[in-house]
Amino acid sequence: MDSTKYSLKDFRVIKGKDLMDRASLFHDFIEDTKAKRHYQYRRVSYSGSGPVMEVKCNYTGKVREMIYMASNDYLNLTKHPRVIEAGREALLKYGAGAGSVPLLGGTLDIHCKLEEEIAAFKGCEDALVYTSGFGSNCNSLLAMLGSQDIAVLDQYVHASIVDGCQNTNVRYFRHNNLEALEEILQKAQNEYITKMVVVDGVYSMDGDIAPLDKIIDIAHHYGAYVMVDEAHATGVIGEQGRGTPEHFHLEGKVDIVAGTFSKGLGAVGGFIASNSRLIEYLRFYSRGYMVSTAMTPQVAGSLRESLKVIVDEPELREKLWSNITYFRENLLSLGFNLGQAETAIFPIIIGDDWKVKEIGRRLDEMNIYVNPVFYPAVSRNQSRIRISLMAGHTKEHLDRVLNALEDLGKEYSIIP
Ligand SMILES: Cc1ncc(COP(=O)(O)O)c(C=O)c1O
Repeated sequence: MDSTKYSLKDFRVIKGKDLMDRASLFHDFIEDTKAKRHYQYRRVSYSGSGPVMEVKCNYTGKVREMIYMASNDYLNLTKHPRVIEAGREALLKYGAGAGSVPLLGGTLDIHCKLEEEIAAFKGCEDALVYTSGFGSNCNSLLAMLGSQDIAVLDQYVHASIVDGCQNTNVRYFRHNNLEALEEILQKAQNEYITKMVVVDGVYSMDGDIAPLDKIIDIAHHYGAYVMVDEAHATGVIGEQGRGTPEHFHLEGKVDIVAGTFSKGLGAVGGFIASNSRLIEYLRFYSRGYMVSTAMTPQVAGSLRESLKVIVDEPELREKLWSNITYFRENLLSLGFNLGQAETAIFPIIIGDDWKVKEIGRRLDEMNIYVNPVFYPAVSRNQSRIRISLMAGHTKEHLDRVLNALEDLGKEYSIIP
């Protein structure tokens, strides 16, 4: 099989092929991807997230030091001493697990405190926490919307939101396009009971910011609620790193603030923050919360400290932003296409899948860890090298990556 002729989407449904046949065909696809050295998935880290990471080469098996340009650990909190120590203390005090589901014995005092603290951090009355960000979005939406309702989604929202809207009516609007949003809401106005607009604060593949202020005005005008996913915004945007509502001075005005604990906060898990009645409702109707064992004490302990560190140590976010500004100015002056990116996520949009695969391979050989991204994760002809920055990257790290990108960009005729 020639893997360059297919995308990951092609093996999901194949007419007349049963599951094991599909898995065999997919295996052939992966084997050919590996033979071409274009397989950049599941590279194994021996040191954990950091600006530099020890990573096993998928091909030679050698463990080498790479500049890690693909982490969501924007503020390097995964290894922050205070965050580690708080997790260690909670582990020693409460043990390795919560022992049960939140409704039936698994709720610890540190879960309650974390819920209060994340709600306050996001300017909401209350919150509930889940063991994953994906589960948080998906299960909350499944509980909130049904057959008489409608979800109006930006076309680039995360898969967890799409999956959470399986029980309801769904319409997509063109990415960040307010006219398209308004047109859908106008038509939906009298047809559905609950109307909910769902957007990401910062888009994971594009690094751009949703115009949340205008989205709220339009949605509320047509009687729709707004839910924003703060996965890549928390810790990164807003004066104190509180995310998109703070960035637009809208704290307390967003109906539902969702997010993950796995990125800027450096651990794992997710949350939904809103008014206290909706949160109470979700505690009893969100099955992925209700009948799924509560977050480990160690994670809850670490996350409480992460929230404090974000406020106490603004220098981390300042360093992240000085890296963003430096990297962005240099990439733009070299002539790369970064779309509308304006945060720590840099999509280097190339559009030619073969070039993206080759550049991914070459960067890997140069010990620079990036993520090549293809359809269906992004639209066709929008394949890209996705890079994300951390506070801990030094100018030397950034310069090494910029030099490599300049050389490869010229070699593959992407920049002049
Ligand atoms: C925008 C967005 N929302 C939700 C999630 C899911 O979060 P988690 O990885 O914490 O499950 C992700 C993760 O990749 C994401 O990028």
